[in-house]
Amino acid sequence: MDTILNFLGNIAWWGWILIVIAVIALRDIFQRKHTISHNFPIVGHIRYMLESIGPEMRQYFVANNREELPFNRIERGWIYASAKKENNYEGFGTDRDIYAHQHIFINNAMMPYQVKENHPNTKDKSFLPCAKVIGTYHNRKKPYRPASIINVSAMSFGSLSAKAIESLNKGVKIAGAYHNTGEGGLSPYHSHGGDVVFHFGTGYFGVRAEDGGFSMEKMIKLVEKNPFIRAIEVKLSQGAKPGKGGVLPGAKITPEIAEIRGVEVGKDVLSPPNHKAFSNVPEMVDFIEEIAAATGLPVGIKAAIGKLEQWEELADIMVKTGKGPDFITVDGGEGGTGAAPPSFADHVSLPWVYGFSDLYRMFQEKGLSEHIVFIGSGKLGFPAKAAMAFSMGVDCINVAREAMMSIGCIQAQICHTNRCPAGVATQSKWLQNGINIPLKSDRLAQYFKTFRKEFIEITHAAGYEHPCQFKMSDIEINLNDNKISTELDKTYCYEKSPVPFNGMQELYDCQHLGGKNKMEMENA
Ligand SMILES: Cc1cc2nc3c(=O)[nH]c(=O)nc-3n(C[C@H](O)[C@H](O)[C@H](O)COP(=O)(O)O)c2cc1C
Repeated sequence: MDTILNFLGNIAWWGWILIVIAVIALRDIFQRKHTISHNFPIVGHIRYMLESIGPEMRQYFVANNREELPFNRIERGWIYASAKKENNYEGFGTDRDIYAHQHIFINNAMMPYQVKENHPNTKDKSFLPCAKVIGTYHNRKKPYRPASIINVSAMSFGSLSAKAIESLNKGVKIAGAYHNTGEGGLSPYHSHGGDVVFHFGTGYFGVRAEDGGFSMEKMIKLVEKNPFIRAIEVKLSQGAKPGKGGVLPGAKITPEIAEIRGVEVGKDVLSPPNHKAFSNVPEMVDFIEEIAAATGLPVGIKAAIGKLEQWEELADIMVKTGKGPDFITVDGGEGGTGAAPPSFADHVSLPWVYGFSDLYRMFQEKGLSEHIVFIGSGKLGFPAKAAMAFSMGVDCINVAREAMMSIGCIQAQICHTNRCPAGVATQSKWLQNGINIPLKSDRLAQYFKTFRKEFIEITHAAGYEHPCQFKMSDIEINLNDNKISTELDKTYCYEKSPVPFNGMQELYDCQHLGGKNKMEMENA
């Protein structure tokens, strides 16, 4: 034994390195899983290593400012700077090719809108509520006017961390916005005082009956117990994976999440593609009406758009019966997700502008566009993009990934692995520990306020008081060399129906205005 130990002790440090390399080389040669490392022992590993750090290298050193997707460096930088209340301007003029295909122009007025001394925006430069009240057309008991036209889109506790959800909820409370729960049910982290839109999909998490279907009893109890729930959203589909139910990888299912959702720890949760509570459009309308009657809350649907036949059926039923959803959230094919197959994320459902214009035009032709609150989501969290969306008929926008970035997401694009380095989309306690909730909630609120302030300024530049006044003819889009650039009404073949609007003061005084916490805080 002593001789062996003496022999090992006499091996020089470089000798040990050679031994380790020899062992790895032997392992490479005799393994049969990886062809490259079998055929090129040792050096083959360099290829795998470079491949794994490639995205980071490209992001930090190679990609230019406008190159990356889903969000390029300029877009991310604008969100980070706005959230930190830092200088979010750029110097020396735009670095975008403003003659490029699909580039958007907002037609400014000769003289901007003038804000009078006693105008709500004189006191609060970011006061920008929704111009429509959700639920008044269908006479719901508790109508709701979102106090912010930008809000947090559906992202569940499970796909996001507890600390991220808590930061978002406290952030919307400061900003007077609402927080959509996403599919995972209402968690304690959603209950810090911000307005909440309770969202559920085919898994019915939070309102799930024993047989896995929908429980009206649980829905009623949930709403009674949590008066901060201001509206309910039934998910039909989302842009990143229409026709596929929600996916929560087992790695993200902790005992707490399992308890909230009523599922098993560590096992993938795949919600079915179809709802158990209804199987066709008339049944869906009945389902919506039953929930609205039982809870008194406005009820809407969220979907990505493709074929229009069933939407037309819905519109016809709405015209005939006066019943139906109070709001429709249209998600674009470019929308994000915690986890989806690339073939779905890349190809199934239309991009936001195409999907929304198809749907809005159809509802408008049936005379319904004024009775529905339209919400848009799909990379709309930038003021100029929002101006385009409002000109097309949107009343509010929801943001998911932009909200994540405001609280520290670095677009690592590994939400599906539970290894999110920013602690936002992971259940790892260690990774979440880096999130400072008071700081991050302030950042979300600051991003929303900066967004609203810049959006109001763009609106004023176009000569309007509120973005609901934007018309499609106010926005132009570059087409191709023959047509050069055309107004949106000519491109998408409709003009938005005018939204009734009698000044910002009326919105301020509205008894259904949400975000009361914000007002209370200001008046305290
Ligand atoms: C991490 C993550 C989780 C999401 N979870 C849900 C969900 O539970 N239900 C849903 O309808 N949409 C979900 N979405 C989609 C978003 O709500 C939103 O519709 C989409 O990302 C487009 O908005 P964005 O471009 O601002 O990210 C999720 C998105 C992300 C990034």
